[in-house]
Amino acid sequence: MDRISVAVIDDIEETRNNIKALLAFDNRIKLAGEGVNGVDAVRIANEIHPDIILMDINMPVMDGIKATEEITLSRPEVTVIIMSVQGEQEYLKKAMSAGARDFISKPFSSEVLINTIISAHEMQRKRKEHLVVSGAEELVRSKVITVFSTKGGVGKTTIASNLAVSLARLTKKKVALVDLDLQFGDIAIMLNVAVKNTINDVIKEAAQLDSELMEDYLINHFSGVRILPAPLKPEYAEYITSSHVDKIIKLLKEKYHYIIVDTSASFHETVLMSLDMADTILFVSTQDLPTIKNVKSGMDVMDSLHYPPEKINIILNKASEQFGIKYKDFENTLKRKIWAYIPEDSQTVVTSANKGFPFVMTRTETKVAKAIIDMANKIANEDSQSIEERKEVKRKFGLRL
Ligand SMILES: Nc1ncnc2c1ncn2[C@@H]1O[C@H](COP(=O)(O)OP(=O)(O)O)[C@@H](O)[C@H]1O
Ligand SMILES: [Mg+2]
Repeated sequence: MDRISVAVIDDIEETRNNIKALLAFDNRIKLAGEGVNGVDAVRIANEIHPDIILMDINMPVMDGIKATEEITLSRPEVTVIIMSVQGEQEYLKKAMSAGARDFISKPFSSEVLINTIISAHEMQRKRKEHLVVSGAEELVRSKVITVFSTKGGVGKTTIASNLAVSLARLTKKKVALVDLDLQFGDIAIMLNVAVKNTINDVIKEAAQLDSELMEDYLINHFSGVRILPAPLKPEYAEYITSSHVDKIIKLLKEKYHYIIVDTSASFHETVLMSLDMADTILFVSTQDLPTIKNVKSGMDVMDSLHYPPEKINIILNKASEQFGIKYKDFENTLKRKIWAYIPEDSQTVVTSANKGFPFVMTRTETKVAKAIIDMANKIANEDSQSIEERKEVKRKFGLRL
């Protein structure tokens, strides 16, 4: 087996030397580089891409939190472990939400250090493995649709909730809607459901969780969609890991035909898991230049994760050619075709969000509702086509239908 490559980032030389000495104890690990601040960390991540970066928090020039944020965005395959001292609890939380996978409190023993590295690396390996398996799985009946963007406020939640409702009404199949905007999720508000349980209650049961038990935690929306809400407080988000997300989505796949996942604007490990597991990613953009630039770098990250291009559908929300950026220019910049356009209609969208009624049910005559219902139609049709294709394949190979 390849040795796990580890880079050590700390501004204090003595600390770096101590850590290097601890690492030298174990022949499963090799030193890949060292640095004295966040800038070094980002450079090492980009140039050497070690498996693991051990990162101090307080450093001159660029601190460990900022560096973690940059690395999580540009090199999500590099795992950051934060080294904190007592009393840095607040920073620690920030580092975790910036995308650090784990943390370790200074001072630490060689045993604790090695164990943390090995288990963080193991998690990352499983994540990658999953990526390969999910690409190969052809015969799953259910479809995971992750609604994503590298920007907030572009309409992810609006689209996720209205699409879920449309799919439920159109196909009469079982639809689950999962709020993975773990800190600021607002699906429950947008759909006006009373929150009894959240994803936090689900993970408390993680050990004995099965698809039956999972049912008890989902909340009914009158459209038929079943909802798993985000935690009630932002600080609960940090308890939820990518393996929880993995388990939740897998269990939902046993019972639901469509699993729609709403996300936050980041490549946090939980969001990454939902992107890995997605059959289709709906990547939402708007037409302003900062968002387009952001979406472009998000697409680059997805390329580096080897997502097949056909897995990603670009949605242009709040679309209108009157803002000076032509749709063609937009497509040229992203080097991708727009898959669906959703027009700007604040009156309909904002009013329905405030009332807690999905506009695809109450304002079906509007263009914005029609655009989302069309999208649901496209998804449902693709689905029935692929079922036909699968039958064809089975026929060819003489398998029972
Ligand atoms: N097509 C649209 N036309 C007008 N306003 C929209 C449209 N889509 C979303 N919005 C508004 O934009 C804001 C952000 O939408 P939201 O779905 O919460 O985005 P995100 O989940 O990406 O942060 C909300 O106020 C929402 O009502
Ligand atoms: Mg949102």
